[in-house]
Amino acid sequence: MLMLLILGVLLHGVSLSGQEEASPKADGIPGEPLFNYASIRLPQEHIPFFLHNNRHVATVCKKDSHCPYKKHLENLKFCWGYEKSCKPEFRFGYPLCTYVDMGWTDTLESAQDIFWKQADFGYAGERLEELHVLCQPEETNDSSLVCSRYLQYCRATNLYLDLRNIKRDHDRFKEDFFQSGEIGGHCTLDIRTLMSQGQRKSPLQSWFAELQSYTQLAFRPIETAECDVVIEKPTYFMKLDAGVNMYHHFCDFINLYITQHVNNSFSTDVYIVMWDTDGRIRVTILARSTEYRKILNQNELVNALKTVSTLEVRIVDYKYKELGFLDQLRISHNTDIFIGMHGAGLTHLLFLPDWAAVFELYNCGDERCYLDLARLRGIHYITWRRQNKVFPQDKGHHPTLGEHPKFTNYSFDVEEFMYLVLQAADHVLQHPKWPFKKKRDEL
Ligand SMILES: *[C@@H]1O[C@H](CO)[C@@H](O)[C@H](O)[C@H]1NC(C)=O
Ligand SMILES: *[C@@H]1O[C@H](CO)[C@@H](O)[C@H](O)[C@H]1NC(C)=O
Ligand SMILES: *[C@@H]1O[C@H](CO)[C@@H](O)[C@H](O)[C@H]1NC(C)=O
Repeated sequence: MLMLLILGVLLHGVSLSGQEEASPKADGIPGEPLFNYASIRLPQEHIPFFLHNNRHVATVCKKDSHCPYKKHLENLKFCWGYEKSCKPEFRFGYPLCTYVDMGWTDTLESAQDIFWKQADFGYAGERLEELHVLCQPEETNDSSLVCSRYLQYCRATNLYLDLRNIKRDHDRFKEDFFQSGEIGGHCTLDIRTLMSQGQRKSPLQSWFAELQSYTQLAFRPIETAECDVVIEKPTYFMKLDAGVNMYHHFCDFINLYITQHVNNSFSTDVYIVMWDTDGRIRVTILARSTEYRKILNQNELVNALKTVSTLEVRIVDYKYKELGFLDQLRISHNTDIFIGMHGAGLTHLLFLPDWAAVFELYNCGDERCYLDLARLRGIHYITWRRQNKVFPQDKGHHPTLGEHPKFTNYSFDVEEFMYLVLQAADHVLQHPKWPFKKKRDEL
């Protein structure tokens, strides 16, 4: 089974004692709720369990006439089963086995127990029992790091990440991504315990590869303004197994769900960061939904691109009604090779990063237009060269001028297309500003 792990990261002053959060205003103005009940985004049936684990909310609810959960206050005994305070008769469920026919255990009790711990809420209980402080905060605003065994689950506060010198390659989960000092916090690090947790070091089983270089920092990242960006919103880091099909993606999200339970937090007002250290070249193909200059064999070209594992391919149609302008800019700005037929959409080349290349697939005889624009913007420009390898649908029909190369559709020779894209990719890789450039040997 493939395991996905989640590092819950909170980047600001959260008390380590966890559940005992700052209590909501006790003396609210009459007419106003004492707690933001809408922030509890859970189905009604889950509310008793939530109140069991968040007694401060239950207490507020009791004295607040606005509380919509009054009817659940009699059910506070109900629990998921992993809580220390949970009595077995009130737990949500427990597996029931009627016979044992597998080799891995021989009694009904142990079969039930194994199922409970490996495939039910008992799993969250095991992780909770294993939690261990690896970096101890000593003063207000210090950082912290708490992990379960083998760093399968970790929770960090005021976590410092230095991404200035990262070296990426074509590995999705690069193991030496962080060097010493590039990840850490201001707290007292138990380095021996941390280093003893490496037995499950592998991408989908542990955060050890990333956290083994966790460093006890001499400075306070937030107070000393060392950071360019401070993220205050609770953030989950997830390594995805594969977002390609339902089975694998569900594996990922069941792990996110377990993490919510382990951390006792179900807010949806969070960031989820997909952890991926792969520095692939992002290719965007601008499709056209107009009547002319369609790429007739677009699918064939895209499939050819997809055979190159170092390319990440995206097809877009910049129609503002379907894709807002800001999103269009975001995509352009996150593109390394921008491919499109001659047309106004190529103006988006203005928003490409400095190291990018624009590939005007075919300029339809209008040679200078986007060549000049790319030159003025300072990015690399290429276009189709070999006339015997581009195939117009017909001679083109301008509404009044007769035959015209801009008024028809085109197919392209796949091999020649790939040759040109790979040349553009080379340009990107060689560009001094390309952020994932491998450090060259100084000799
Ligand atoms: C803790 O951090 C907050 C926010 O940066 C700041 O306002 C506060 O003064 C800090 N407290 C201490 C004791 O450093
Ligand atoms: C984890 O729990 C803490 C304490 O309740 C909470 O402040 C934090 O937002 C939670 N983390 C995430 C990622 O939801
Ligand atoms: C180009 O392709 C589009 C969509 O397939 C079609 O509607 C249009 O008639 C074609 N243009 C020409 C000139 O054949």
